[in-house]
Parts: sequence; structure tokens; C-alpha cells
Amino acid sequence: MAKQKTRFVCQSCGATAARWSGKCDACGEWNTLTEEVVRNESAGRGARAATGDARVYPITEVDARHDERLATGLGELDRVLGGGIVPGSMILLGGDPGIGKSTLMMQLGHASARILYVSGEESLRQIKLRAQRLGVQGDHFLVLAETNLDAILRAVNEQKPDLVVIDSIQTVFRPELESAPGSISQVRESTAVLLRHAKSTNIPMVVVGHVTKDGVIAGPRVLEHMVDTVLQFEGDHHHTYRIVRGLKNRFGSTNEIGIFEMQEKGLREVANPSEVFLSDRSRGISGSCVTASLEGTRALLIEVQALVTPSNYGTPQRTVSGVDGRRVSLLLAVLEKRYGMMVGQYDVFVNIAGGVRIDEPAVDLAVCAAVVSSVRDAAVDHGTALVGEVGLGGEVRAVGQVEKRVSEAEKLGFKRILIPRGGIADRKRRGIEIVEVDLLAEAMEKLLG
Ligand code: TYD
Ligand code: MG
Repeated sequence: MAKQKTRFVCQSCGATAARWSGKCDACGEWNTLTEEVVRNESAGRGARAATGDARVYPITEVDARHDERLATGLGELDRVLGGGIVPGSMILLGGDPGIGKSTLMMQLGHASARILYVSGEESLRQIKLRAQRLGVQGDHFLVLAETNLDAILRAVNEQKPDLVVIDSIQTVFRPELESAPGSISQVRESTAVLLRHAKSTNIPMVVVGHVTKDGVIAGPRVLEHMVDTVLQFEGDHHHTYRIVRGLKNRFGSTNEIGIFEMQEKGLREVANPSEVFLSDRSRGISGSCVTASLEGTRALLIEVQALVTPSNYGTPQRTVSGVDGRRVSLLLAVLEKRYGMMVGQYDVFVNIAGGVRIDEPAVDLAVCAAVVSSVRDAAVDHGTALVGEVGLGGEVRAVGQVEKRVSEAEKLGFKRILIPRGGIADRKRRGIEIVEVDLLAEAMEKLLG
């Protein structure tokens, strides 16, 4: 038998090489090249060209009426999607193993849409047990335990459901391909086939993918380019909160988040996240303060914590979770230079309570306040919140949508909020005192005396 032709495929970016090397030339990742059998490429492409119709339409004649979105029944998820699932679209849901992806997908069964849930990871019995636990019942929820893509598509064609869920894409394989299920060639090819099917039949699909250790969905970044929407399901295993975040969305914004709590009987939507994230806050402890962060269209109150202690070892530690570590280093430098607070010989730990992640600079002022509060061992007043970006000159800079943030703080009973000067038009008629600040030093003075 002739030796099969092989090539080396980067499992991270999908680039191919004739020879193995330790580092992928295309994306620079190490140790990602694996040997895969070469398949006759032209067969797939040719087949597609033969069946695809090349009819051209004037834009006015393209029918967009079918684009009524499918409500998932989970308000938090619908919001992240931009108001439900668009027909014919393909959604990639990524997340660590065990975070709750299968649970979330099965809870779609609470809605009345006909859903075909395809599992390659669990047996029908296991699926049934989970469904019982979640209280999902009814003949509209169809299950299939299958990994062969051809069989899956046959079932889709037979059943014509409103939505197909593939859990997970790493278990699906095309028999024509020689490489193993889960390899980038299989994952990419299977996704391409499913995508074509979704577009041609207008049946939307959700594809579940495991995330690799460095947070890239399913290894192949190529998948993210192919699908319409990429959702990330995150949270850590020590907390019960789970967050769905839009990383890419052709049909909506990407800065919305949906918040859930993992309970005995599945995921519960968290309607008032601020209350939840502040629920463990204790009074009179130094190194803690509250800021109002904007997540999509919502303001969210969160607690920022810092612990600053003399360093016992050569290099002081900077351990940060929930905010950008480099941003914290920058703020520490600003505190040294513009506020005269020397932290060079201290270990600094910064944490966002509840396991959320904040990516906007409006959290700057709160990070500085938490650090200063910890260094001085003086608690920030329990009823005070603060927002503001901090510039390199030690100035407090404007942030977006201050109005919304102030209202959220007021709603949750805060008595005072520090904001960048000029951030708000109407300072009167409120149950919350608004304090405008120009400089970091001034803010710390007003906060901690
Ligand atoms: P799962 O949905 O299987 O995760 P994934 O598909 O992302 O791998 O979730 C598994 C975890 O969720 C498991 O640790 C148990 C927990 N869980 C609950 O706490 N309550 C429930 O009702 C369910 C179904 C799961
Ligand atoms: Mg699962």
C-alpha cells in the first residue's frame, strides 16, 4: 500500500506546513503542529460549487421577513445575542469543561421551540437524567446521541427542528476525513459543513466548544472567523456565578453580558446582578470599595478589593484577578508619582469580588482607592461608590454613561458617589450626593481624609 500523504497542521490557527517544527510560523504558538492525513481537497470544494446557486438579486428583492429571531426563553442569553437567535445563524459557545455549557443548552428546552440536542459526550440515559434534574420535558425537545456528522445531518433533515445544538464540536467527525475527531481539520470541516447546512436550510445552530488552557475557543481561531456569533461562558469553579459574554456578534453588540447562577436545579438567571455581587460585602474593612461598571447597556455595581502588605521576598508580587494586571501596574506607578504613595516594597493583590472581569478604565479610581485604603488601613465609607478613569498625570478623566452608573448606585442605596468633573448634567433632585473630582489626590482626600 502506498504511504499516505500527510502534512502538519497547527492546532491553534490551522496553518499547514510540510515539515514538523516546534513553533508555528503563522501564529507563533509552540508545540501546536500535529501530523494529519491529506485528503483530496478538490472533492469538497467542487461539490460545493456544483450545488451552490449563483443567482443574483437586487437588494430590494431579498426577503428579510424570515429574520424573526427565536427567543431562547432565557432573557439573559437573548440579550447577549442581541434579542434572540437569528434564523440560519451559527453560534459558537465556548467555555471550560464543567462550567455549565451542556446545562445551559439543555435549559433551552424550557422554551417551546423544537430543539434537536445532539450530544457526542453523553449517553441518552445521562441526558435524560440531566433533563429530569433541570425539569426539561415535552416532545419538542429532541435528543440524539451521535458523533457521525452524516447521521446528524440526516436527523436534522428529517426532523427540521427550529434549532440544532451540537454538544460538542470536538466530538463530531466526518467519516471521509482521516484525522481524529477533535483535530483541527475535523473541527473545521465539520463546522463548515454545519454552517453551510444552517445557511441553506435557515435552521440556526449552536455549536459547543471546549476552550483550551489559554482561553482560545476550541483551539482553532479559524472557527471564530467562520461562525456568526461567538459566546464565551465563563466563571470560576469556586463561585456559583456564570457569565455569558459575546466575543463576536454579527447580529448585535459584543459588550453585553448575561449573568446566571449555578444551582441545584440548573442555571438561574440573575435579574439584579449588583445586589448579588455586593451581597458578601462586609462593613469597615480596609482595602475595599465599590464602583459602577458598565456592561453593555447595564450598569453593574461591583466590589474592588486590594491587599497591600510589606514584601518578604526580593521582588514584590503583583497578583491581580478580574482586572488587567498591566493596568494595575500603571495605576500603582501613578499613585507613587502623583500621590506620593510608595508601594515599591509591597506585595499588591487586587481582586474583583464574585469572579467577574472588568475591562473598562472606569474602574481605575476604585482600584486606586482600594490600594490606598489598604495601605493606610482605613476603610472607605460603606455608602460611597466611585467611578473614573485615572490618567498618567494623576487626573481623573471622564467615563461614559455616568448617569446610568449614578442611578444604579442610587437604586442600591448608596449615599454618595465620586465621579469625574462635568460628568453629569443634573446634580440636584437626587437621593444620592454627587461629588465631582478633578484629581486622584483630591478624590483620595475626599474619600479617606
Ligand atoms: P455541564 O453543563 O456538564 O458543563 P459543561 O457542559 O460545560 O462541561 O455542568 C457540569 C457542572 O454543573 C457540574 O459540575 C455539576 C454542575 N451542575 C449543577 O450544579 N446543577 C445542575 O443542575 C446541573 C445540571 C449541573
Ligand atoms: Mg458538556
